[in-house]
Amino acid sequence: MKSIASAPAKIILFGEHFVVHGTKAILAAIDKRVTVTSAFTENDIIRVNSELGTLDVPVSSPHEEVKSEFRPFVYLANEMISSNQNVNGLEITINSDIPIGVGLGSSSACCVAATASISGLFKEVSSEENLKMSIEAEKTIFPDTSGADCTVCTYGGIIEYDKINGSKKNTDTSNLNLLITNSMIPHSTKRSVEKVSKFKEDNEDRFSQLCVSETKLIGEVNLALKNKDLTTLGLKMSENQKYLEEIQVSNDTLRDMISSLKEISLGTKITGAGDGGCIIALVEDKNLDKVPALLPKDKEYFSAKIDTRGVVWKIEK
Ligand code: MEV
Repeated sequence: MKSIASAPAKIILFGEHFVVHGTKAILAAIDKRVTVTSAFTENDIIRVNSELGTLDVPVSSPHEEVKSEFRPFVYLANEMISSNQNVNGLEITINSDIPIGVGLGSSSACCVAATASISGLFKEVSSEENLKMSIEAEKTIFPDTSGADCTVCTYGGIIEYDKINGSKKNTDTSNLNLLITNSMIPHSTKRSVEKVSKFKEDNEDRFSQLCVSETKLIGEVNLALKNKDLTTLGLKMSENQKYLEEIQVSNDTLRDMISSLKEISLGTKITGAGDGGCIIALVEDKNLDKVPALLPKDKEYFSAKIDTRGVVWKIEK
């Protein structure tokens, strides 16, 4: 028996970093996925196969002692095995079309899909339970996570999220045409979040003003989304970018990419932790064919569709 689950990548449309400090964020799931397949094995080993290599560790090995990219899988496997009798080992295989370490939620999507896949070997769990467990798994690599990324990977669509109230879904999203461009500079979300916390510590008043501005901006964005007002949405993206510049998660490469797309974009900003990773631009259909001439040749880009399915799970006998 195999338990197979997949979860989508994500982008943050508004509010990254500030969401860690309690403000709202707006996120979208996009049409790139990770699939995790789990099966019982006879030996007392947890095996994890991924494009980063294969890990074999004895069941009950502390997850803290394995390389960070394997930690959530070992954590989840140990949790499930310890609360279920008659299980010897587990084999977990990850196949992904989400680029790693560039702000598209690869690790959150892995945590969400792995939770559904591994727990699915034992019983079907609700989306809420799956989300709770996947956030705990993500904390094994990134203890300060706001939980926003796992939430959108679980439910799909466009969501508004805050740490206290969780998420609320924005429904009709069909007119958003988002161009995602990868700076090809990998980043560490954990390090960027720590850097912003240091900025907050050193600039307490300014940081709280920025949180107030972000909250106001998100209110305006919700209205623009409701009215399908792309011009306002674009302007708000560019305004949000100013806040991200101020908290110092941008750099020259990202600024150059943003300005390259200026003439065809209604608004452009970093998505995710910044310090590398990806930018998103709101580009009208008729302008998409101008993109290759505008971007430096070493950058990858693609047009994203919104994923409305979130995590999906099945058993194969
Ligand atoms: C990372 O995709 C988004 C951050 O806001 C961190 C978080 O919300 O946990 C930078």
